[in-house]
Amino acid sequence: MESRYKTYQYVEQLPQFVGNEVELRGWVQNKTEKGKLVFIILRDGTGITQCVIFKNNVTEEIFSNAKSLTQESSIYIKGTVRAEERAPGGFEIDVTELNVYNIAKFYPITPKEHGDAFLMEVRHLWLRSSRQHAIMRIRSSVIKAIKDFFDGNGFKQMDSPILTPSACEGTSTLFETKYFDIGSAYLSQSGQLYAEATAMALGRVYTFGPAFRAELSKTRKHLTEFWMVEPEMAFFDLNDDMDLAEDLVEYIVQYVLKNNLKELSVLERDISKLENIKRPFYRLSYDEAVDWLQKNKIPLKKKINGQDVDIVPFPWGEDFGSPQEEALMEQFDKPCIIHRYPSDVKAFYMKRDPNNSKVVLAMDMLAPEKGGEIIGGSQREDDENLLLERIRKENLPEDDYQWYLDLRRFGSVPHSGFGLGVERTVKWITGASHIREVIPFPRMIYRIYP
Ligand code: 4AD
Ligand code: MG
Repeated sequence: MESRYKTYQYVEQLPQFVGNEVELRGWVQNKTEKGKLVFIILRDGTGITQCVIFKNNVTEEIFSNAKSLTQESSIYIKGTVRAEERAPGGFEIDVTELNVYNIAKFYPITPKEHGDAFLMEVRHLWLRSSRQHAIMRIRSSVIKAIKDFFDGNGFKQMDSPILTPSACEGTSTLFETKYFDIGSAYLSQSGQLYAEATAMALGRVYTFGPAFRAELSKTRKHLTEFWMVEPEMAFFDLNDDMDLAEDLVEYIVQYVLKNNLKELSVLERDISKLENIKRPFYRLSYDEAVDWLQKNKIPLKKKINGQDVDIVPFPWGEDFGSPQEEALMEQFDKPCIIHRYPSDVKAFYMKRDPNNSKVVLAMDMLAPEKGGEIIGGSQREDDENLLLERIRKENLPEDDYQWYLDLRRFGSVPHSGFGLGVERTVKWITGASHIREVIPFPRMIYRIYP
């Protein structure tokens, strides 16, 4: 079907147009002059290409317009495509026409090095830079891969609400907002509880949306607003859940390798490390992981009376933080799932292990190369009374969870799911040094502008 909106020609299509005339629209990334020649690096969102304006080939007006161009001015050009190995992108345009949309005045980001604080302040412009552009294209691919994977495997996308009456992941990280006469509402920390309801209606579902955490963690891996995909499956046990998580992550990485080699090369990412991300991944129980930490004398790091204290051997029952996760992952070149964590460090909805009531049927997937936790999931408690016991123990308001308990009263079944953090995954795959670089407009404790 012919599209009714304008279909322009783009830099990424240049290979099809060698020897022919094209029209391109975009922004001036760089301009250099050499006598009768003006060279422009044109950026159009799909890629960059060199445009050559030769004085003898154009009108005087066009040549003087070309000379007046500044970094990030917006232009239209017409010209003939030539293959040129030495030019960025491999092509060059011999320009015959040029129109100017806008002359940019003193673009604040210049080719020199800028500090991160400044770049974050001009994030709306920084997104145009080549590294950021490459990361955003990979982010878009990761999201496409996730949707393709689930849609192709019989899942239905079911959206969970963002405004919610209660907590999913602990009450300490809730964002509260006024809600008419009802009082308070909270921004969703996770769509999981609602996904459990839709899974009982549709079988296999996934919810994909923003999640909000008033996290006090000021790290390279925490945002206060991030995107999460959460599949939820009726009749899946923990093993099925872990198998699905591995299949998903393998699919995402292989999809990016297939579609984003150019971007990975801009980022100077070691491709061989990603090519290796194929099943089987590694798995360790929490018990095995603690044994390893103890044998290798990796301490628990705690603050006691304002003092940093190292506790060895690592005590069974404590949650892992970055130091333990990174130490554990040093030995692995692929993701590793850690399963069956102590109940006390995990959420109220997780099912106790029938073989050991001290642990729950939880699993976290840790990524190699200091990627950290990219997935958290579990088999869910499907017994009404055991779930109620956990809700009471955590002092959660029982009334708010009556609908959730209904799922255990009317045709309860074993079921499982997990959440994969989009930004954690993109950070790991791109090798970005900070999570703020992998979402267009990061939200952190100390940043809400732009
Ligand atoms: O481990 P979490 O807290 O699990 C849940 O929210 C479950 N309800 C998911 C489920 O079973 N349906 O979060 C899941 C993932 C983490 O593994 C991590 O990748 C990401 O979400 N995540 C964050 N990403 C960025 N910033 C934060 N503050 C994050 N908190 C969690
Ligand atoms: Mg987690």
